[in-house]
Amino acid sequence: MSATDFPAWSRDVAGRMETVLAGLLPSPRITPSRLHDAMRYATLGGGKRVRPMLVFAAGEVAGAEAARLEVAAAAVELIHAYSLVHDDLPCMDDDVMRRGKPTCHVEFDEATALLAGDAMQSLAFQLLAEHRLADDPVVQLQMIQLFAVACGSRGMAGGQAIDLDAVGQAITLPELENMHIHKTGALIRASVLLGARCGRPLGAAELGGLDRYAKCVGLAFQVVDDILDEAADSATLGKTAGKDREAGKPTYTSLLGLPEARKFADRLLGDAHEALASFDARADRLRQLADFVVRRDR
Ligand code: IPE
Ligand code: IPE
Ligand code: MG
Ligand code: MG
Ligand code: MG
Repeated sequence: MSATDFPAWSRDVAGRMETVLAGLLPSPRITPSRLHDAMRYATLGGGKRVRPMLVFAAGEVAGAEAARLEVAAAAVELIHAYSLVHDDLPCMDDDVMRRGKPTCHVEFDEATALLAGDAMQSLAFQLLAEHRLADDPVVQLQMIQLFAVACGSRGMAGGQAIDLDAVGQAITLPELENMHIHKTGALIRASVLLGARCGRPLGAAELGGLDRYAKCVGLAFQVVDDILDEAADSATLGKTAGKDREAGKPTYTSLLGLPEARKFADRLLGDAHEALASFDARADRLRQLADFVVRRDR
């Protein structure tokens, strides 16, 4: 497939992920069926699947096998979808719409949503332990460790704690960047590193370039999420627009204003491309994904 055909490639990855996740999630015919229904509801049939795409695109740089990338991508998407279920709970952002349908706790109930998130998280780690992702088991353990750190109190969950503490506060730009790097950037960075590590061993320079790329795209992702919350409508987003302002959340738009926030996202996009400057055409999917993350409208 031509590297220029990004829409077809992204549809292909999204379609493949739907099949893979549907096969890996527990069947609702197995008890506890309501919990399994909730896990499937929160994971299947929606979302842009950007993190799986990052896994596949980074895997392309390292010539990784598709079967390995599918497992890594499923694990990352399960963690992401669990983070959304919990993010939407009344005790967090209290949102009623996600991916164009009622949030998990609205469709089911709060306790079920909480448990669905818990079980999605443990399923992600179960997959990484059950399937071969690297020739060397030590490398695979390192992959699981880096992923655990990205999900935990020094990664996504920690970022969410900072986010909740920041409500109604006047925080500085470096503090906002720190929050975004953790709540969203950590999992995006882990997606790129996991995808790359499914393939041939890369040198320090290559890994360093991918890491710089992933950090830029991870921060840009949340900057654009902040912009869209302010500038897009709920129907396009599939979630309630304008929630950040209403909830008193510090965001890139509240601190910088829309035009400056857009300029900052563009600057991060330039930095992401710069980080890949020495890579050949095998990094083209990553380049296209960075463009997609910053230019997307939902
Ligand atoms: C939304 O993520 C939450 C953030 C981390 C900003 P996405 O915009 O990737 O949500 P889906 O997966 O497409 O629904
Ligand atoms: C979500 O950030 C970050 C995580 C879920 C880890 P937001 O709260 O801004 O995400 P949306 O806007 O609800 O999707
Ligand atoms: Mg939130
Ligand atoms: Mg939210
Ligand atoms: Mg948001």
